[in-house]
Amino acid sequence: MSFLTMTPGRPLKGTIHVPGDKSVTHRAIMLTALAEGPSTVTGYCRGEDCLNTMRAFQSLGVRIEETADRLQVHGKGMWGLAEPFNPIDCGNSGTGIRLMTGLLAGQDFFTVLTGDESIRRRPMGRVVKPLRAMGATIAGRKGGELAPVAITGTRLKGMSYASPVASAQIKSSLLFAALCADGTTTIAEPRLSRDHTERMFIHFGIPLRRDGCTVQIEGRPSARWSGKTLVVPGDLSAAAFFLVGASIVPDSDVTLRAVGINPTRTGLLDILRHMGAHIDVLDPREEAGEPVADLRVRSRPLRGVRIGPEQIPQTIDEFPILCVAAAVAEGETVITGAEELRVKESDRLATMATELRAMGASIEERPDGMVIQGLGRKGANGTLTGAACTSHGDHRVAMSVAIGALTAAEPTLIQDTACIETSFPGFDRTLSGLMTDSEKRL
Ligand code: S3P
Repeated sequence: MSFLTMTPGRPLKGTIHVPGDKSVTHRAIMLTALAEGPSTVTGYCRGEDCLNTMRAFQSLGVRIEETADRLQVHGKGMWGLAEPFNPIDCGNSGTGIRLMTGLLAGQDFFTVLTGDESIRRRPMGRVVKPLRAMGATIAGRKGGELAPVAITGTRLKGMSYASPVASAQIKSSLLFAALCADGTTTIAEPRLSRDHTERMFIHFGIPLRRDGCTVQIEGRPSARWSGKTLVVPGDLSAAAFFLVGASIVPDSDVTLRAVGINPTRTGLLDILRHMGAHIDVLDPREEAGEPVADLRVRSRPLRGVRIGPEQIPQTIDEFPILCVAAAVAEGETVITGAEELRVKESDRLATMATELRAMGASIEERPDGMVIQGLGRKGANGTLTGAACTSHGDHRVAMSVAIGALTAAEPTLIQDTACIETSFPGFDRTLSGLMTDSEKRL
């Protein structure tokens, strides 16, 4: 089994690029595959999740080539996909399986979508039910609640849907289905989830109306667009590990280049600043409809904070690393309204509570959140305690524990770390590069 051994931290110093945004990469692959004619995508994420989406579209008959650092996608148009010969394996990717379920529900062929053990435990009913209301024919385990799902493509009709959950995966699944449907589709969500799909639709010239937490799109007539050149910004959810790492390891100073700062994703920046972090947003600019900036972070003692339901959607993937920040902060952190964390790659409330407790943190797990009693910075004797930990097969848990381990006086062993590949190939190299850089400068 794969593992990572973390030895107590030297300061993190240097300038890095993080992998391309995983969410934006999935959408870039989908929209370029469905475009008419060729597209070029640079800066994309080469994590396993995105490679699985790429392979999925290859099995749907789309020619996709990787040359050096760019993807050449030979788009087939909305109606140019071909029935795949085999079931499509989405691996660990909730975004991949949910967005493709929406798209394939409105095609005119049969597909089966499946994934790894974690994906086959995660809820699919949240997209299957509204898609059925649009006329989709989808079968699956437990009546369509769980993958694998078998989709018999049908002609869909637009609808109005009020999603009970603020979820970009639900919204985007329905938006892809809506493109194949007759008539208008309107989707409302209780709070605004990440809006990369809407931004990329607009970037490709697909007409779409937005009003607060509601989005509306016309069906079939909108479903034609040409190929484009796209630049994917760095992933703020990958940058998050270094934003917290450099905050909590004394004397650190790290600059992260060209990171996406879409306001539907920047909850972590707001919360860390509230906790006292020193983060500068430098040279803000825009790439392919997405705001981007360089981020500089310098270490500072953090203090506990209260995080409520309104802050969850824009911080949704950053809770594992935020738990680490809270565990080494001064004072109490209370997280509420975060029950969605229980249906991510792992049950992140449970898995983070288990791992951080093993490292000496004091955590009360609640149905919709947790209360963390921060240890406060303890200097040379370490803050967290080195321990034998596991990732629970969850990439963000693995990387969060690795960053927490930098504050311990003893080494930490993290088991089952191959999952890091799903979003951040080379994470350990990037991290040790920052520590080596700091050694060179001492
Ligand atoms: C994602 C949306 C989020 C997030 C996931 C990626 C996306 O899920 O947790 O990692 O790319 O749309 P939900 O929108 O279901 O919360």
